[in-house]
Amino acid sequence: MSVSLLPSSHSEFQLKDYWEKFFQKRKAPFEWYGEYLDLCHILHKYIKASNTILVVGCGNSKLSEDLYDVGFTSIDNIDISEVVIKQMTSKNRTKRPEMTYTVMDIFEMTYNDSTFDCVIDKGTLDAVCVNSGQETIDKVKNMFSEISRVLKSNGRYICISLSQEHVLNQLVAAHSQGWIIRVHVVKCVGEKVGVASALPVFIFVMTKMASPAIQIFEYVNEDEKCIRCEDDAGIIEFVRNCQQYALVLHHLGSMHMEEQVCLDLWSGSNNIEPRFTLRVVDLPKKKALNGQFAIFLVPQGRETNWLFSSSAGSTQLAESAGYERLVIVTLHRGHTYQSLDKVKEEISTKAMELSQDSLPDRIKCPVLSLAEGVGSRTVLLESSSSSSGGFVVEESQDEEERGLVRRLVFLESPHLAQTEILMINKSDGASKRKGKKGRQHKNGGKLFDFSELMFPYHKLMLSSLALIGGEEGGKRGRNPTGAALDILIVGLGGGALPMFIKKHIPMVCQDVVDLDGSMIQVAIDWFGLEADQIVTGGEGEKILVHRDRGKLNVIQGDGVEHIMSLSDRKQANTLYHVIILDVDNKDAGSGLSSPPLSFTTPQFLQAAKSLLHPNGM
Ligand SMILES: C[S@@+](CC[C@H](N)C(=O)[O-])C[C@H]1O[C@@H](n2cnc3c(N)ncnc32)[C@H](O)[C@@H]1O
Repeated sequence: MSVSLLPSSHSEFQLKDYWEKFFQKRKAPFEWYGEYLDLCHILHKYIKASNTILVVGCGNSKLSEDLYDVGFTSIDNIDISEVVIKQMTSKNRTKRPEMTYTVMDIFEMTYNDSTFDCVIDKGTLDAVCVNSGQETIDKVKNMFSEISRVLKSNGRYICISLSQEHVLNQLVAAHSQGWIIRVHVVKCVGEKVGVASALPVFIFVMTKMASPAIQIFEYVNEDEKCIRCEDDAGIIEFVRNCQQYALVLHHLGSMHMEEQVCLDLWSGSNNIEPRFTLRVVDLPKKKALNGQFAIFLVPQGRETNWLFSSSAGSTQLAESAGYERLVIVTLHRGHTYQSLDKVKEEISTKAMELSQDSLPDRIKCPVLSLAEGVGSRTVLLESSSSSSGGFVVEESQDEEERGLVRRLVFLESPHLAQTEILMINKSDGASKRKGKKGRQHKNGGKLFDFSELMFPYHKLMLSSLALIGGEEGGKRGRNPTGAALDILIVGLGGGALPMFIKKHIPMVCQDVVDLDGSMIQVAIDWFGLEADQIVTGGEGEKILVHRDRGKLNVIQGDGVEHIMSLSDRKQANTLYHVIILDVDNKDAGSGLSSPPLSFTTPQFLQAAKSLLHPNGM
């Protein structure tokens, strides 16, 4: 559309004068929101050839002509513009004799009540509903009541709209009682011009029911599945999600992204967690030696790996893959995935939507992965606790082929393992790892392999012990309790770090604080934690009883409170050589994955410092 045809303000769309001038200038058909071929697959579901149809605000659209030509001959068209009605009448009078064009204001239609089986509105509501001011609200109400009046019972108001917020709210509110509301999103209307449209088009089908008590809300997703919502909020959410998704696609299509973008894709069968998460990573052109676009499938059970779960890791992955844009796809718990081929089939069209518009052939693109299959994970325990929320204990094969890995994952951060530990099958343990201490566990008949720390940051934390000094340091009097080194760890998780220390650094006496009592039990039951004593935070002083080297004391309580109260009491024999904070931060918005902000206040840091030996860390 040429710029001169645009109104100077949105509200001009409501004015007859604006449309008269518009159609004087614009003689060729102008289609708002798509042509017959873009829309017919949906329209044909709701109208029959025998139906009496009214098209409100017909403009010079070809939609009515095309409908007529395929057999919908009983069509009345109305528009406020005399210019356009004159043009359309002379164009169709002889070619389509049964179709009428009449100058009529939608707010004062002259038809009798219950005249039509169907009212079609393509863009007219959007032209009338220009803002959320009271005057507009009154106009829109008037329009809806006129449409309802001329519709027969069980008749349909089919409204094709961009559904911007003020339009959506009024449309849904006006039809939420006594109507069935069903909404479709129209795919790809903007794609013909090469750039994914930033504004998707929706088709609302509102069926007028005889009973005013009826309240039915449905949306039809891209797989053509009709989903029933509990209330109108479900419909509004669907429309907003489609709009946000289209906006993201529009940006992805047209620009290089400086920051990574993550999108969740949901399937109709599970609305608790998404089926796929797609992370889009862009590289500068000069680093993309292999091509423009590829998809990378992360096998199940490996999504917690740094390479796939962090933005730095994903950049590294994209650099080694060598594509200008890499879409990293992770698969979620609670879903079944049959095979790599099936997943590729399922995901490739969606992932391709995220490709750059400049891609010469949008059909073919490489799908990369680590392994031949989709990987597998075995969920051993799924539970929840009051402080950590939902969590799972699961096992899968390690990507570095070190063997079977058992991990603890909090479902609030499904791509982050809280604890990982290597497992040995009983037979392997007996032969290959003879002599190593692994404890056979009642669940699964496997042994825990405490010989390796799985998280690199745990290794770094342990290096602090080397800086403090070992047994010698203790003998020189830094540790009056007699243990060579006293350390305090806040955050037990599955207990992999404390158990590694207990097994391999015997001169250490550890106090480990964790808020979550049920997590302490999980650590014992599923991760082989061997605690020498377990006390609750209020019984803090009891931990002083067992202060021998090699001891592992677990304190159930709040880490901040524990440290503050020990500090208040200023007991010299509770001094530590090292204090380690290994606590996850549940506040995703704070920008810190660990520790929570309450562990970073000056008061807390002072208290922690007061509990340290000189030279402690
Ligand atoms: C966005 S255009 C849509 C035209 C056409 N339906 C299409 O899809 O191309 C809005 C149309 O509504 C018409 N219109 C605006 N206010 C009207 C009113 N009060 N009564 C009837 N038609 C009106 C305009 O003249 C214009 O043709």
